[in-house]
Amino acid sequence: MKVVVIGTGYVGLAVIALLAHGHEIVGVDVDAKKVEKLGRGESPISEPGLSELIQRGLAEGSLHFTTDLRAALQGADMCFVCVGTPSLPSGEADLSQVEAVYRSLRSVIANELLVVNKSTVPVGTARRLQQLLLGTPHRVAVVSNPEFLREGKAIHDFLKPDRMVIGAEEDWAKEKMLALYERFDCPKIVMSPESAELTKYAANGFLATKISFINEIANICEKAGADVRDVAHAIGLDPRIGPHFLRAGLGYGGSCFPKDTSALYQIAGSADHDFKMLRAVIEANNHQREQFVNKVIAAFGDVRGKSIAAWGLAFKDNTDDVRESAAIDILQQLIGLGANISVFDPLAMDNARRVLNGDVRFATDALDAARDADALLILTEWPSFRDVDMAALHSVLRTPRIFDGRNLLADLNLQDKGFAYVGVGLGKAV
Ligand code: UGA
Repeated sequence: MKVVVIGTGYVGLAVIALLAHGHEIVGVDVDAKKVEKLGRGESPISEPGLSELIQRGLAEGSLHFTTDLRAALQGADMCFVCVGTPSLPSGEADLSQVEAVYRSLRSVIANELLVVNKSTVPVGTARRLQQLLLGTPHRVAVVSNPEFLREGKAIHDFLKPDRMVIGAEEDWAKEKMLALYERFDCPKIVMSPESAELTKYAANGFLATKISFINEIANICEKAGADVRDVAHAIGLDPRIGPHFLRAGLGYGGSCFPKDTSALYQIAGSADHDFKMLRAVIEANNHQREQFVNKVIAAFGDVRGKSIAAWGLAFKDNTDDVRESAAIDILQQLIGLGANISVFDPLAMDNARRVLNGDVRFATDALDAARDADALLILTEWPSFRDVDMAALHSVLRTPRIFDGRNLLADLNLQDKGFAYVGVGLGKAV
């Protein structure tokens, strides 16, 4: 099939992986510079496997990029809408980019077309947007097909999904979607567009709930002298609970969970439902960051003039993305309190420079960041930080004190190696 992908962010670029199933892809974006870069085979984001995929597609002639939507749509079977839906100040999803795409589509649809919403949009959006396409002379249907991709694993998750959700009303639309995904070996659940739209928010809301739940348990552990790692391991062995998303730490960040939990809360409110539990999830997540900053302040009395090193800037490991990153938020709070900060992250330094600019020292490596620091904070769960020589770390720090917001080094017995070590939810054994 010929598939047009509108929006070349994380989601749109992952959809390019349909090339692997023999489809032809045209990526469309309004950003001419980005399109030019993609056309040269350069990926604008750091995502394992993506550059290779783009280069192979371009070389084989099955992948093209353009800013010209009308030309792209000539003879297309379907078009995926993958533009951003950031949060408005109210917490609701901002649909202006999605609506702009639909307005452009209306005047350029050249044949029968399936329009597939990959962007995360509030319940009822597919049905509402279908109205915007009324009057086009060709058969058109709008389908909701939410994505469940993780950054850093987006290509893998796209090609090996654990399920596929297809929200479609009309039979021809359902059949076309099932034909597109014919070679995907996973449950394909066909439902109404509303159910599909809500499934996306419910999935992210539930995962965020797991994280806030284990963080609250971690907070109790600190007071009660229990170890959250043991508790999480033990409850996770119950298949009804499951072992995933039970890592206590600084809470969730990124471009999805904070935005989608706020949007789901607003969606519930608009439907006259006060989603008390989700409000608590969001509050617990914010509190987790504050609590970490308070631990650092408590250790010094006053952080003004103190040298504080930080490992990690990205919102999680294996990505250069710093959007809604707990690390950035925590560092901004400490900068505001007068601390002198040096930082290192394996991938996210360039993106962090745009937000932290001159306020911190960007170090050349993890040990360089820690040099002469009064404390080291671990803010992102990069596995490579575990490979740092701990004896060398001890010798470069002015004070061998670690606040580990991710419990990344918790099993290395650093107290026995002369460090003062504080993790999250690691009370003394009862
Ligand atoms: C998340 C979901 O996992 C995807 O299924 C979904 O498709 C995506 O949002 C989206 O809506 O587009 P992502 O934002 O890439 O994916 O990140 P996750 O791997 O889910 O991690 C989110 C945050 O939770 C990170 O800050 C991570 O550090 C934190 N986290 C995760 C924890 O604090 N504890 C855990 O146990 C797991």
